[in-house]
Amino acid sequence: MLSEFLLTEMSRLADKDNMPLHRQLYEALRRAMLDGKLAAGERLPSSRDLTQDLGLSRNTVVSSLNQLCVEGYLVSRVGSGTYVNENLPKTQTRTRAPSAHAHTADLSQRGVALSSTFCATQLEIQPFTPGIADFSAFPVALWQRLQNKHWRMTYPEMLDYSQSGGYAPLRRAVADYLRVFRSVPLDVEQVIITSGSQQSLELSSQLLADHGDTVWMEDPAYWGAVKAFTAAGLKPQPVKVDEQGMAPAPEDEGVPPRLIYTTPSHQYPTGAVMSLVRRQQILSIARTHKAWILEDDYDSEFRFSGPPLSSLAGLDKEERVLYLGSFSKVLYPGLKLGYLVVPKRLAAAFKQAHYDLNRPGQMPLQAALAEFIELGHFASALRKARASYAKRRQTLLEALQPCLGEQAQITGAEQGLHLCLRMPNSLDDKQLARRIAEHGLTVRPLSAYCLSRTDARGLVIGYGYAALTEIERYGPVLAQLINTELKRLARA
Ligand SMILES: Cc1ncc(COP(=O)(O)O)c(C=O)c1O
Repeated sequence: MLSEFLLTEMSRLADKDNMPLHRQLYEALRRAMLDGKLAAGERLPSSRDLTQDLGLSRNTVVSSLNQLCVEGYLVSRVGSGTYVNENLPKTQTRTRAPSAHAHTADLSQRGVALSSTFCATQLEIQPFTPGIADFSAFPVALWQRLQNKHWRMTYPEMLDYSQSGGYAPLRRAVADYLRVFRSVPLDVEQVIITSGSQQSLELSSQLLADHGDTVWMEDPAYWGAVKAFTAAGLKPQPVKVDEQGMAPAPEDEGVPPRLIYTTPSHQYPTGAVMSLVRRQQILSIARTHKAWILEDDYDSEFRFSGPPLSSLAGLDKEERVLYLGSFSKVLYPGLKLGYLVVPKRLAAAFKQAHYDLNRPGQMPLQAALAEFIELGHFASALRKARASYAKRRQTLLEALQPCLGEQAQITGAEQGLHLCLRMPNSLDDKQLARRIAEHGLTVRPLSAYCLSRTDARGLVIGYGYAALTEIERYGPVLAQLINTELKRLARA
């Protein structure tokens, strides 16, 4: 019996006395999967049955199962149950037909967690794919001229690694921009140029947390951050998001954070804007637990309605917030340049470690970007992009109008390059997204971003990449497909 195996494994754990029960059960379940007691694809007993068979509390069982879901060992399917991930390495005790995933047997456990699909499996560029900007508008000829100029002017040091956190004029330009537009009070010494948000997350995890430390993550979450934290050996702890953003409940503090990752200006993917009360609550929790907040301000440049928002970093009196920004949305993602603003007392350590770990460089590219900003081209690209995205957003909102009502509401359309259409919990949003894909349109199911919750269903729809004419043409098609599903649901 599985429960006997689990209880025996729990009693055998070497460090058992120092482990909370949910961790013991987590370890036992993990072993059951790795030893083949539970095979890839197998369905687990329900949490209620496990609670009863093991004589543990429901919270303990649910917490262990959630953790295994977050790490990719288990997959939860709405209305059907919890299954062992198909992609886990095949075990020795049970033989199965060779599968297309057999190569995962070569991977480390972390490799399995990193390569098992967590959320967004397909990143193909399509009109409604969220998270993608229209980089076809990028002024290529101008950029080429600036790059040529900096290559002509370059001197030997510019070809070396960069030791001081990046090219100084670019760091100054970033600092000036953030002071004015995001109310981040900062000194240029605090700015580190990175190869984008992923590297900023990696660096922050490596320097501020140890293997096994807890990172609070918004649920639903940005999959890129989940992967970065998993790679660093951190334990993601889901914290629900509501209409005011990340919403820590008193019980969440039972698993205190070392890091808190949040997207307060435009929660990814629900689009919720974090209220001032919540911002203060998050800052106060960070103070209490001596945790660090990683504020990912990934698309704050595009705000279409409502008053401008200041950043969480701007409210931080205790210097507990690290601020992450990226050039991927305003310029183009393949540029691979972003920035990390760290508290003053961390700046020297971050620059040193960044140098040792990543050997950063690309100084002529950074110089071209600095000049692009100084000459006002960045501001002008931003102005044009804002105006163009505003039209696309308005057109999409109008196209979706017939779907809206009691069953479907739009959230997060005030800012950014995507919106979220929330739908009833009874909706199978993955199936709806597949049905929409059959018509050649890519949207993402909200449930695919969920870490452990089962009460967030809907579609995440991008309007950054689609040309206005495409939104005009395909917006009504999308709306009709959604409406058909809503009607079917209402009849059921
Ligand atoms: C929440 C979030 N953070 C950051 C990024 C940008 O990351 P990068 O700078 O690595 O391109 C994205 C891109 O889609 C995102 O959705």
